[in-house]
Amino acid sequence: MSDLSLDQLETGKPVKLEKNGKTICVARVGDEVFAVNDTCSHSEASLSEGDVTDFKIECWLHGAEFDLRTGQALSLPATQSLETYAVKVDGNSVTVEI
Ligand code: FES
Repeated sequence: MSDLSLDQLETGKPVKLEKNGKTICVARVGDEVFAVNDTCSHSEASLSEGDVTDFKIECWLHGAEFDLRTGQALSLPATQSLETYAVKVDGNSVTVEI
């Protein structure tokens, strides 16, 4: 069973997904979909309320940026990477694999 449908996801508008006790930020970039831990590695902000530009997501609280593909912290004040999750896209079905 899928978690989301691709046509509900818009580039630049990440969504929050609760699955298996985790809170995940799911972001579409073109035809690709990425999933990272929703809580910023700097503090308690929800990244699904942040902005996506290219493959980067920016935390709305203090402006740290992360690479959606790898979870890597790209700018301060975050220094720790985010956990990433594999995403399967099958037609219109999007499944985060946890
Ligand atoms: S909580 Fe995200 S940058 Fe501070």
